[in-house]
Amino acid sequence: MNLLELVKQKAKIHNKRIVLPEGLEERTMKAADIVIEEKIAQVFLIGDKEKILETADNFGLKNIKNANIVNPLKHEKKEEYIQLMVELRKNKGLTFEEAGILIENPLYLGTIMIKSGDVDGEVAGAMNATGDVLRPAFQFVKTMPGISVVSGAFIMILKDKNFGQDGMLIFADCAVHPNPTESELAEIAIATAKTTRAIAGFEPRIAMLSFSTKGSARHEMCDKVINATMLVKEKDPTIIIDGEFQADAAIVPSIGKSKAPGSIIEGNANVLIFPTLESGNIAYKLVQRLANADAIGPILQGMAAPINDLSRGCSVNDIVNLIAITANQAAGIK
Ligand code: ACO
Repeated sequence: MNLLELVKQKAKIHNKRIVLPEGLEERTMKAADIVIEEKIAQVFLIGDKEKILETADNFGLKNIKNANIVNPLKHEKKEEYIQLMVELRKNKGLTFEEAGILIENPLYLGTIMIKSGDVDGEVAGAMNATGDVLRPAFQFVKTMPGISVVSGAFIMILKDKNFGQDGMLIFADCAVHPNPTESELAEIAIATAKTTRAIAGFEPRIAMLSFSTKGSARHEMCDKVINATMLVKEKDPTIIIDGEFQADAAIVPSIGKSKAPGSIIEGNANVLIFPTLESGNIAYKLVQRLANADAIGPILQGMAAPINDLSRGCSVNDIVNLIAITANQAAGIK
């Protein structure tokens, strides 16, 4: 069974409640229909019930009638949610009036439903930019204890099975934090180790990437990566990690051996941590296009509840897969 099939099987066992704020978006509705039919998760769609059911009918979707549908403009918990928003943001001075406006925005409503324990996770972004999906999550759901920075990982599945873990590599951060400090970069590596174990199901071998291998160049940008690597080793000595590496020394054993002799990674990394969002985002898109690789994600890591952001170019299948991944993450968060 391939990785995604396995993730879907596990999601079915947990039967988590996933909210989809873009309830009237065509691909989202089609994905919801599949998720309900295959019993991958319980679906909560945000939008006007009549419109959603009418649109589902027009698309020939038979299962949407079994979704839970929440109208952002009027629902029984609206006042309760507004109170909770004001309480959670009182140090930021959020007023009842402002919260009353925000709660009608499906992206805010989705995160408050999570915060209230009414659903377990969220998938959005088919028609909203990353920042708009993430901001409500950062403001109301916040990060896990001990983590200060949310980041985004991709599972890259290559045609060439010689790289990484039988052709699978995890890349991070490719989606969220533009320029992490050294301690934030260390947190990103630790969070990615957890994602690798929980979702990809293998033991991470992490390469911390730079434009230098083991001191071949000297620059403060390389120092950031070297220091972050040391911090991870201190914080969690069980993690197999080394750096700084150029990408070829990280993933090609012969080059790893010659450029970084004695490194525990031995040119055989299955997790690549990029020094900035620029490099991570560019790298994943180039690998996806030039190597015709599948890019699953971004899987957001470090949030107190699983909230995942889709690319606006996503397919129906991408949404189904991300819902299954989100359900797996929800099952892993106690
Ligand atoms: N982790 C945790 N919390 C964060 C993070 C983070 N990485 N970044 C911001 N926050 C929190 C802040 O602490 C703040 O909380 P507070 O209001 O309680 O004090 C809140 O979020 C807002 O912070 P701002 O600094 O105002 O953040 P802003 O809203 O300007 O930006 C954002 C945050 C949207 C994530 C920004 O960093 C961003 O746009 N990142 C790039 C996203 C992107 O476009 N990615 C590429 C596309 S994705 C793809 O290709 C798959």
